[in-house]
Amino acid sequence: MDDSFHVGYGSQIHNFFSKFGSAPVKRSASITVILFFSSIIVLINWLDVSVILGDPFPRTIFSIIRKQRVKFEIPLNCSYEGLPGTCPSNYPLTIELDESSSAAACPEYFRWIHQDLKPWKSTGITREMVERGRAHAHFRLVIVNGKAYVENYIKPFQTRDMFTIWGILQLLRLYPGMVPDLELMFWCEDRPVVRKRLYQGPNATAPPPVFHYCGNKNALDIVFPDWTFWGWAETNIRPWMQTLMAIKEGNKRMNWIDRIPYAFWKGNPKVAPAREELMNCNISDEFDWKARLYTLDWSKIKKGGYNDTRLEDQCTHRYKIYVEGIAWSVSEKYIMACDSMTLLVKPNYHDFFIRSMVPMQHYWPINNNNKCRDLKFAVEWGNNHTDVALAIGKAGSEFIHENLTMKYVYDYMFHLLSEYAKLLKFKPEVPPGATEVCSEMKACSEKGRWKKFMVQSLVKSPSDKLPCRLPPPYEPPELKAFLDRKKNISKKVQKWESQYWESLNKKQ
Ligand SMILES: *[C@@H]1O[C@H](CO)[C@@H](O)[C@H](O)[C@H]1NC(C)=O
Ligand SMILES: *[C@@H]1O[C@H](CO)[C@@H](O)[C@H](O)[C@H]1NC(C)=O
Ligand SMILES: *[C@@H]1O[C@H](CO)[C@@H](O)[C@H](O)[C@H]1NC(C)=O
Ligand SMILES: *[C@@H]1O[C@H](CO)[C@@H](O)[C@H](O)[C@H]1NC(C)=O
Ligand SMILES: *[C@@H]1O[C@H](CO)[C@@H](O)[C@H](O)[C@H]1NC(C)=O
Ligand SMILES: *[C@@H]1O[C@H](CO)[C@@H](O)[C@H](O)[C@H]1NC(C)=O
Ligand SMILES: *[C@@H]1O[C@H](CO)[C@@H](O)[C@H](O)[C@H]1NC(C)=O
Repeated sequence: MDDSFHVGYGSQIHNFFSKFGSAPVKRSASITVILFFSSIIVLINWLDVSVILGDPFPRTIFSIIRKQRVKFEIPLNCSYEGLPGTCPSNYPLTIELDESSSAAACPEYFRWIHQDLKPWKSTGITREMVERGRAHAHFRLVIVNGKAYVENYIKPFQTRDMFTIWGILQLLRLYPGMVPDLELMFWCEDRPVVRKRLYQGPNATAPPPVFHYCGNKNALDIVFPDWTFWGWAETNIRPWMQTLMAIKEGNKRMNWIDRIPYAFWKGNPKVAPAREELMNCNISDEFDWKARLYTLDWSKIKKGGYNDTRLEDQCTHRYKIYVEGIAWSVSEKYIMACDSMTLLVKPNYHDFFIRSMVPMQHYWPINNNNKCRDLKFAVEWGNNHTDVALAIGKAGSEFIHENLTMKYVYDYMFHLLSEYAKLLKFKPEVPPGATEVCSEMKACSEKGRWKKFMVQSLVKSPSDKLPCRLPPPYEPPELKAFLDRKKNISKKVQKWESQYWESLNKKQ
């Protein structure tokens, strides 16, 4: 084990946090939430405390004003000498809050948490329902007293399960002592797994609650952030925090107006018919649909050291196309993060954040059955109305850079798991087949990019801010109005398109 490796990456992460403003050194008054009096004494001595205020809460909460607080960090300790198969116990069990952190409201898309859990709202979730999900699960996750346990059933594609579990472990490090006890089933493949129609009708059994990366209108999967937020090692896509920073820098290289005035797409078309069809829209000798499309052959790219696929180098066109793969595609956030206007080919699946994005505000809608024509129209229209196209590109990009930060990804996971746990009607238990998992156990035995990405995405200190405030559920009429509005906007764009093509046909 090469320890200088960790130190090196540790300092990169350190710099990274500094850039984002949650610097390890803080000069501020802060509230400290501590459960054990003895640790308060130790802390007071250590922190150079000048004033201790009273306690307005039933729990022991002290407000401590300090000259300076040094945020402690707990790096990954791969030379930990515990018993094999055990985890170190030196990580804090509680969080210390910064006084200025009154929790702000979460972004709108958090409202879909209530929507995804709605099938169990009136009945609650019984053990029997969870157990029925086992047939649709790659693993069971158990959280008891802040510790995580996993029971593996089947192996999914690549290392999706490992990075998903890694993400949950980081959530436990970010909000120690705050994630409630729970048991859940997790499905890691592309397509949703719980079919709505099997659980409808007066005598239908309750659906099993199963967590997964996407949903659609025919499924009841509970949508959870996908593994790529902690990195996609097999394709050398770094963890989201690093990628987002890199794309932010990439965006600065070229103003929108100076970018190539065509629609760009790069990817593997072989995974879905919609992508194969899209390839017909590439520029040819006969016709220019204003699209510039490039295929990726991952085996070649691997040999070339992935130097051709850096996402931050792909913000070079005014327009970028998003088209689904086998189901939702993880590329959505990378495409949206470029300031280019996203041309969103009508998706059949949704991830956890797209549902609150609005056509013509955050992206331009493209029909699935008229892709080439729609693309050509969108690009021409955008080049005729550059101020509007620029604004749509910017709004979509700002949504991602402001409201899809890693902090919000963790907050989404926190609220989703908390709301789910509230519905459980049984006491979560560690089953005999499950083993405890912790960051050390996962990352220390990995190598290469797998390990590098885990070290890069390690949460090194508990949060000093509370999770954002969960917004209320949609009232049914409110939700209907929102969805109608989105539909209306897409219809309006379709109308422009047909008028444009009709007028062209008349001229000919
Ligand atoms: C790692 O754990 C070992 C023993 O368990 C301890 O001696 C060492 O100080 C720890 N290292 C760090 C960086 O915490
Ligand atoms: C982010 O979410 C907040 C809260 O819903 C909202 O007020 C804000 O406009 C959003 N920002 C962007 C850039 O979409
Ligand atoms: C539901 O169950 C009732 C009573 O067992 C039965 O009469 C009815 O036909 C069932 N309905 C359906 C749709 O299966
Ligand atoms: C699309 O056309 C460009 C320019 O001719 C070419 O470089 C590219 O390989 C083509 N893409 C596909 C998927 O055929
Ligand atoms: C990428 O790597 C390949 C093979 O090592 C090399 O031939 C090529 O010039 C590199 N491309 C870039 C853009 O660095
Ligand atoms: C863009 O402007 C040109 C020139 O005015 C016009 O011929 C064309 O129809 C416009 N295209 C769209 C899609 O608005
Ligand atoms: C959508 O369009 C229909 C018909 O044009 C209209 O009646 C309805 O009020 C619109 N709904 C919204 C939310 O804009």
